[in-house]
Amino acid sequence: MPELIVTDAACTRCGACVSVCPLRIVELPEGNLPPRFTEEGAGRCIICGHCEAVCPTAALAVDDPRLDPAVYSPPTAPFAPAELDAYLRMRRSIRHFRPEPVPRETIAGMLDVVRYAPTGSNSQRVKWLIIHDTAEVRRLTGLVVDWLRSQQEGDTHLSRHFNIAAMIRSWRKGNDPICRNAPHLAIAYTDRRHPTVAVDAVIAATHLDILAPAHGVGTCWAGFFQMAAEAWEPLQQAIGLPEGHHAGYTLLLGYPAVTYRRPPRRNRLDVVWR
Ligand SMILES: Cc1cc2nc3c(=O)[nH]c(=O)nc-3n(C[C@H](O)[C@H](O)[C@H](O)COP(=O)(O)O)c2cc1C
Repeated sequence: MPELIVTDAACTRCGACVSVCPLRIVELPEGNLPPRFTEEGAGRCIICGHCEAVCPTAALAVDDPRLDPAVYSPPTAPFAPAELDAYLRMRRSIRHFRPEPVPRETIAGMLDVVRYAPTGSNSQRVKWLIIHDTAEVRRLTGLVVDWLRSQQEGDTHLSRHFNIAAMIRSWRKGNDPICRNAPHLAIAYTDRRHPTVAVDAVIAATHLDILAPAHGVGTCWAGFFQMAAEAWEPLQQAIGLPEGHHAGYTLLLGYPAVTYRRPPRRNRLDVVWR
């Protein structure tokens, strides 16, 4: 169970830790005592760390064996909103990749940051499978093409919506309309136990998608790969996630071979105010 470690002399009893706790399980007891868990509070704590993060005097720490001991400094200055706006507008789906691999350390460093993406009840159940071996990416893509063939034969909704025949022809000619010759795949996967895990995985993938360009890495949401991973047993077996786990979403990953010079235009904003 988590513990609240408070440096009594540093604590000003300001109550910030009490006010931010989402479960209201931190209290300032009578008698000018330092903050502590309420009765049964430790058992209900989701270890979100907000009490620690808000403390103006760094007087409080949450201790739990599950926590990574690494401590990160806050940014020295806030982002200029206009810069972040421009950064987000410039994020693009990358469909042309350079063949050289992205070093494992670069990918691991990004995933380390992605751990900070929100998860329901701070459950942090998102795990990653990185297909780093490009030959393995191609082998898996071949299984997606097998799934496409099965869709074509079945005259499914998918085969009416997309030009699957053209995709299969393109693959036969040596192109890759599925994984776009990306050197790597990043699969965010989860177990099925927690009600929010499917969304958690998509949020984690979104954070990776947003973070990657800052590290010079391009991504693209791998829709066809993902659909096949959800439906096609040979691909599921080849991916080999642990029992009870499923692919939340898959991203293509690699160094971009294309440079976008300006944001494209988007549909007009559609918002209802009440
Ligand atoms: C859930 C999802 C699935 C996608 N699947 C594919 C895909 O299979 N192949 C592809 O080339 N792009 C795919 N995309 C990328 C979209 O086509 C792209 O986001 C859209 O055209 C807008 O371009 P932008 O991301 O550069 O702004 C997918 C995007 C999302 C969100």
